[in-house]
Amino acid sequence: MLIKRSTGWQLPERQATPEGLYLDRRRLVQAMGLGLAASAASLALPGVAAADDKAVDPTAHFYPPKRNDKFGDPTPVTPERLAITYNNYYEFGTDKSIWRAAQKLEIRPWTIKVGGMVEKPFEIGFDDLLAKMPLEERVYRHRCVETWSMIVPWSGFAMKSLVAFCKPAGGAKYVVMKTLQKPSVMFEQKDPLWPWPYTEGLAMDEATNDLAFIATGLYGKPIGKQNGAPIRLVVPWKYGFKSVKSIVSIEFTDKRPVSFWEALQDNEYGFWANVNPKVPHPRWSQATEKPLGSDERIPTQLYNGYGEFVSSLYENRKSEKLFM
Ligand code: MTE
Repeated sequence: MLIKRSTGWQLPERQATPEGLYLDRRRLVQAMGLGLAASAASLALPGVAAADDKAVDPTAHFYPPKRNDKFGDPTPVTPERLAITYNNYYEFGTDKSIWRAAQKLEIRPWTIKVGGMVEKPFEIGFDDLLAKMPLEERVYRHRCVETWSMIVPWSGFAMKSLVAFCKPAGGAKYVVMKTLQKPSVMFEQKDPLWPWPYTEGLAMDEATNDLAFIATGLYGKPIGKQNGAPIRLVVPWKYGFKSVKSIVSIEFTDKRPVSFWEALQDNEYGFWANVNPKVPHPRWSQATEKPLGSDERIPTQLYNGYGEFVSSLYENRKSEKLFM
């Protein structure tokens, strides 16, 4: 994966597509080249394999939980090695091979703060939270705004179970989730030009939709650090950047939050970010996607193929920019 970081210029469209380009306020451009690192197949993956070691992860015995096929059983499932070695996690670097750097993240103890418009603010340890939640496995499609995609088995629990556990107040309209801030390990957070911590939000009816999921596992094991351990969001009808990783803060509010990418470049990345092949990104088409590990591009589907579960959420929001 080739990364360029330059100032004051833009790559031609042919190079920008299908990978993303992100501008910060000072017009720095981060351009990502195309192509899965050829070395992926030969990686030994030290550290990654440790995630399924019961001695290392105190929650390993919960996995794999029972499969729930209610939302489909998409195929072909992406080979695990690809999904755990081709990642977006900008806190650890701007290319796709951050999995090594991410192993430095310490995920125990891990405390999640719940606050804002709730009955009573509280903090809970991740292991305690997990023990209270109804775990299941779901196989979901994942569509990145950069046009790569994957199909992976997540383990975790319905986001609506987490929302109920947090006891939001009646007036709460949005839930805001934030990633850990730890610049000593997440070294990109030392760059003051990015609006850290990584922040994302959902409207309450999105967060309590059956499809919205909180992932704590992947491929039947505790989720690896590069994929967002110990706890991340998965909203498969939206572009992947909505699915915030390594969550430490959950806040309920009546004001729409400004998310990380929106703060950087609001004419390219919006709050709703629902997948729509007919609405191009300002600099590239969203009509097709490239599954990880495949040489073929395939058509992208409206709401990433999950319209039957989520399209009703947007019937009364037609005036909004739902697809960016
Ligand atoms: N969460 C944080 N904290 N930092 C990130 O850079 N990248 C997002 C999302 N969540 C990101 C994040 C993007 S752009 C995508 S496509 C997915 O994570 C990638 O998830 P994966 O690496 O598990 O495939």
